[in-house]
Amino acid sequence: MYTLGIDIGTSGTKTVLFDRCGRKIASATAEYPLYQPQNGWAEQNPADWWDAVCQTVRTVTENIAPEEISGIGLSGQMHGLVMLDAQDRVLRPAILWCDGRTGAECAEIERRLTRERLIAVTANPALAGFTASKILWVQKNEPEIWAKCRRILLPKDYIRFMLTGEYATEVSDASGMQLLDVPGRCWAQEVLDALDIRENQLGKVYESPQITGCVTPQAAALCRLKAGIPVVGGAGDNAAAAVGLGVVRDGRAFTTVGTSGVVFAHTDRISIDPAGRVHTFCCAVPGSWHVMGVTQAAGLSLRWMRDTFCDAERDAAEKRGCDPYDIMTAEAAACPVGAERLLYLPYLMGERTPHLDPMARGAFVGLSAVHTRAHMIRAVMEGVSYSLYDCVEILRGMHALPQEMQVCGGGGKSAFWRQMLADVFGMPVIRSSSDEGPALGAAILAMVGAGIYPDVRTACDSVIAERDRTLPDAAAHTEYRKFYEIYTSLYGSLKDGFARLGNC
Ligand code: XUL
Repeated sequence: MYTLGIDIGTSGTKTVLFDRCGRKIASATAEYPLYQPQNGWAEQNPADWWDAVCQTVRTVTENIAPEEISGIGLSGQMHGLVMLDAQDRVLRPAILWCDGRTGAECAEIERRLTRERLIAVTANPALAGFTASKILWVQKNEPEIWAKCRRILLPKDYIRFMLTGEYATEVSDASGMQLLDVPGRCWAQEVLDALDIRENQLGKVYESPQITGCVTPQAAALCRLKAGIPVVGGAGDNAAAAVGLGVVRDGRAFTTVGTSGVVFAHTDRISIDPAGRVHTFCCAVPGSWHVMGVTQAAGLSLRWMRDTFCDAERDAAEKRGCDPYDIMTAEAAACPVGAERLLYLPYLMGERTPHLDPMARGAFVGLSAVHTRAHMIRAVMEGVSYSLYDCVEILRGMHALPQEMQVCGGGGKSAFWRQMLADVFGMPVIRSSSDEGPALGAAILAMVGAGIYPDVRTACDSVIAERDRTLPDAAAHTEYRKFYEIYTSLYGSLKDGFARLGNC
């Protein structure tokens, strides 16, 4: 028997077919555009996600019989706002997690509920990335659309609706809407009332491994699946990645260097940062939570560097038949720690942890005529690593500091970046046997839902193993720490300038 893990990411959808031992049988990815109609905005068309799902599911199931699929798990970019009308038509492009247009709405949410009450109920302060402020933005700026809105769904839950016809979500992704009672794992009526949202506009809330519906005949025809396959709750991409890495017990943690960067620590007892710098969400293990710091532009910073400045590396990569990132990292590796005293702040899309500031923007600080593109590439990688270290430092303050860190995402594939993370964090960095992170996590949840394993932890113990570990170099850690201290002082000096620039 096989299960499907479908991860609706920001740059594309990745669908992977796994056997019951979690071995990858086939994988397919389809990309789609991200629209930035204004500086700081980010939108996508839900129809693009659905096309990508149909296409990738058809590809990975080509060589197996439809009745061999026992379950489907969904994972995806969190927080995105999808609105449907009474005929289930998408009302406007989805407003994504990395869209920072809702600073004023966040202030409004905290005014209506008070910041303390909001943190007590939703476990988080009002954040521009989260769904609630996006809903308020539509209420205020597009009242004609709000008047027609019958359903509010997250990206992967829109795909669930297309697959099963059910309006449903699950606790891990719903936590990022800022409408969930995170300690109680149910919709927070008090928040819904304050924000003029009706509970029947939201999906039914499940735990991640529970079955939420079955594939309809229409969806089966489009995806070349068998009707009736169960679709489990699944999880937001980070909570799903945690399952796919076996981060399902206290003391376990991972960092992702994907488009965004994340530091995620599992916790069996709910723990909330009163300052709201890291998020507390329900995790995919029923009855547990996680604490998570997010840096908005991690891999995105390096991609921006590649696309904006690295034509030479791209040409060279084409000639040599390799990836431009390999050439860029080789150049960065030839520069010393600290990139000859050049620092980079990775706030291209505003920042969450630790500043919670959608107006923050990126900066190179310390540029001199000695610097070359190679120094800038290294500074970008270091700046992203420092920003992840900011998250680690907050976990330390919450007594949730892990002893070692799993790593995943595109950045985790680079040996150079793994060593940099181990050295910056001063802890071993571990790679798991599978690179499939969120897709594997979603498939493991489907295996549990289909009864192949009794629970998430047992499934992870059977499916996941360690591939390798990168040990920190103490001298490099001390050297990085010196630059990190300067890095942490820079945001405070630039903050007012960012706000003024944003208001020009
Ligand atoms: C998490 C977050 C991002 C997206 C990216 O809070 O916003 O990690 O889920 O896909």
